[in-house]
Amino acid sequence: MKKIFVTGGAGYIGSHVVKVLGEAGYEVLSYDNLSTGNRWAALYGDLVVGDLGDRPLLFDTLRRFEPDAVMHFAASIEVAESVANPLKYYRNNTLNALQLLEVVRELSIAHFIFSSTAAVYGIPETIPVAETAPLLPINPYGASKRMSEQLLADLSQAHPDSFRYVALRYFNVAGADAGGRIGQAYRNPTHLITRALKTARGLYPSLQLFGNDYPTDDGTCIRDYIHVDDLADAHLAALRYLLDGGLSDIFNCGYGHGYSVREVIDLAKKISGVDFPVVEVERREGDPPALTARSDKIKELLSWQPRHDNLEFIIRSAWQWEQKVGERLKSGA
Ligand code: UFG
Repeated sequence: MKKIFVTGGAGYIGSHVVKVLGEAGYEVLSYDNLSTGNRWAALYGDLVVGDLGDRPLLFDTLRRFEPDAVMHFAASIEVAESVANPLKYYRNNTLNALQLLEVVRELSIAHFIFSSTAAVYGIPETIPVAETAPLLPINPYGASKRMSEQLLADLSQAHPDSFRYVALRYFNVAGADAGGRIGQAYRNPTHLITRALKTARGLYPSLQLFGNDYPTDDGTCIRDYIHVDDLADAHLAALRYLLDGGLSDIFNCGYGHGYSVREVIDLAKKISGVDFPVVEVERREGDPPALTARSDKIKELLSWQPRHDNLEFIIRSAWQWEQKVGERLKSGA
């Protein structure tokens, strides 16, 4: 049985990947400091509660487990926070990736899957954006991830026979496990769909809509929302590719088309049945107007086929999860 070490395995995306790895018969070990993750979310394998900054613990855990591959999710992920507190992002994202890679090299671990982001593109000249587009991030979040991608590219170029990686550039990940066991469970969520649904539940008095004067049809930003289970499948496909000898590569993870903030809000109101208040405010710093993925590369090379390319399904699964998550968070990690 192949062994996979997952940083951030108790987090939102990491936990959905742990689920598909466990279901596919891999042996999983999660490593998570529980700063935003939850112990109950890691459905398969053991969980070591630890920080990537704790090098002795990280080294010891990896040395004992002897994984065939490392999947690296643990990171900070909020664009606005990265603008306000850039050093946090360069430490949590870039420096922690560097330290993890040093340990991975010391222990001769050959396969690495990295959570990157569409934010590395900044404001692309053409959308849907291809993997070959220039990387010109417009916020520290995107810059911190671009630097990590650079580390990976240089490392695999230096050691092509003993280190290969796949970087997956996520677009807007949303929704929850179709089985209702896990989903987004941050204590202070900032993402649009989660904020909208929590507003519908009455947890916030209103939803702020950031910017209505973008150069888009309805003036609000356009994003490519991808269901978290489809993203988890993409990781499984990337893992099989690497373990089968695939070369280092980078893939977009999105559906190739987008929805505006207004469209998302309207659907969230319809699905929840609540006409919650929306307040239109200034643009949020660091937000590109429109970001959608070209997804032909991942479909061709990794044979990835999305199962939930449907915004209604995505929001419905998130809404079902929202009804449960409050209780989960109250009961503690
Ligand atoms: N938005 C609102 N109100 C909110 C929350 C969000 O209007 O309460 C808007 C944002 O301004 C943006 C859109 O909804 O236009 C989506 O925002 P999210 O915070 O849900 O997601 P982001 O687009 O900021 O972030 C995502 C991913 C990143 C990726 C980034 C690229 O989480 O990994 O897109 O910009 F890098």
